[in-house]
Amino acid sequence: MKRIIATGSSGLIGSEAVAFFDQLGWDVHGVDNNMRRSFFGPDGDTTWNLELLRREARHFTHHDLDVRDGEGVSALFKRHRPDLIIHCAAQPSHDLAARRDNLHSYDVYAASLEFYRAPRSVAVYNLGGGRANSVSILEAIERCQDLTGKTLTVEYVETSRLGDHITYISDMRRRRADYPHLEITRSLDDIFRELTDR
Ligand SMILES: NC(=O)c1ccc[n+]([C@@H]2O[C@H](COP(=O)([O-])OP(=O)(O)OC[C@H]3O[C@@H](n4cnc5c(N)ncnc54)[C@H](O)[C@@H]3O)[C@@H](O)[C@H]2O)c1
Repeated sequence: MKRIIATGSSGLIGSEAVAFFDQLGWDVHGVDNNMRRSFFGPDGDTTWNLELLRREARHFTHHDLDVRDGEGVSALFKRHRPDLIIHCAAQPSHDLAARRDNLHSYDVYAASLEFYRAPRSVAVYNLGGGRANSVSILEAIERCQDLTGKTLTVEYVETSRLGDHITYISDMRRRRADYPHLEITRSLDDIFRELTDR
């Protein structure tokens, strides 16, 4: 059985790594110390997501560990000797673009799996949805309203936030050159439908 260690495993994208590799039948070890709660207070608590993973994932073991604890991390890696490491433990940036591209977590981890199967050394790739999967915040609000039939409560602030990009579209030429057969399988509308179905 293949083994993965995913850090930030109770967070937004780390938990999707757990679900993706668990479904493939891998032995999944998650590392998360709920640091998000320290950053953002009770609203940032990720315990609910950890409990969801514990209920739904079949081969998941959680480790309450700070990734800055070098000895603890070394001991974990020596004990479990993972085939793959996905590192998602981080404080997310609050900078957002007014328009940006989006990639479904399935496609993020399908690309990670491809890299695992055919790794390139010292390779760094952007993973994004490209122009076809890009949307502005205002368009996204409109699409959510269309799909749910509900009016969202929105406040429009004229002043843009410090650090915000006007537009952000990932440059995926390197990834395409090395993995030309990798396609984006979930469109922007698939993502909206999945979000609004939940
Ligand atoms: N969410 C996205 O769409 C997205 C897209 C691209 C990149 N990213 C990047 O991925 C990373 C994770 O983003 P996210 O949205 O999943 O954030 P998140 O806050 O939902 O998850 C991060 C997780 O890491 C954990 N964590 C933080 N510091 C830790 C530490 N020292 N030890 C152990 N666990 C720790 C937190 O408790 C949390 O559960 C960030 O760097 C973010 O910028 C996110």
